[in-house]
Amino acid sequence: MHQWLRGKFIVFEGPDGSGKSTQLARFATDASAAGLEVIEVREPGGTSVGEQIRKVLLDPENTDMTIRCEMLLYMASRAQLVEQQIGPAISRGDLVLADRFVASTCAYQGTAGGLPMEEIFEVAAVATNHQMPDLTVIFDVDEVTAAKRLNPLLDRMEQKGAEFHRRVRDGYHALFAADPEHVLLIDATGDADSVYARATAEIEAKLTARC
Ligand code: TMP
Repeated sequence: MHQWLRGKFIVFEGPDGSGKSTQLARFATDASAAGLEVIEVREPGGTSVGEQIRKVLLDPENTDMTIRCEMLLYMASRAQLVEQQIGPAISRGDLVLADRFVASTCAYQGTAGGLPMEEIFEVAAVATNHQMPDLTVIFDVDEVTAAKRLNPLLDRMEQKGAEFHRRVRDGYHALFAADPEHVLLIDATGDADSVYARATAEIEAKLTARC
């Protein structure tokens, strides 16, 4: 794990309960230990404004939030994050590890939520100022296994139910099928160590092949 990761932007994705955040934290620790400058960000959030938007998005009281409002709030948080954190870090040559990005909006508000994908891509182009990841790593897990891993105090998104989360997973599969050059699909049903070994091997293979 080293120089081929400099200045790269890698997104860790997956359904709620996929284990992606644990995998990201471990990858960040290993990359730092290998001498890389690493920044970790999460969505929604990752900035002062973004964390306030996160509270609104995940508040179980906001039962009447429309899907377009939801999509735009995720994008607003993303715009702030790209400008304040991700863009400057990539310019410095740091490794940027993001817990979710545009793929989440495609899977949750697009495939599962029913918003047309073209609308999401149009808004994403504005929100990200065309800053796209080098690689999106999807931690794939079925909704039954994923639900067992969740904290019983569910947030507004987690409360959307099993059928919604099955469609989220379909959305991730479709993203992988559409762009296997920039997207990895990792089976995340096993124990954390073997998932990590598989993910790191595939990330290295994909990124070094491009050098
Ligand atoms: P987290 O629990 O992984 O921090 O993510 C927060 C929730 O927000 C999770 O249920 C996924 C959801 N989400 C979307 O629906 N659309 C998005 O664009 C993003 C970034 C997250």
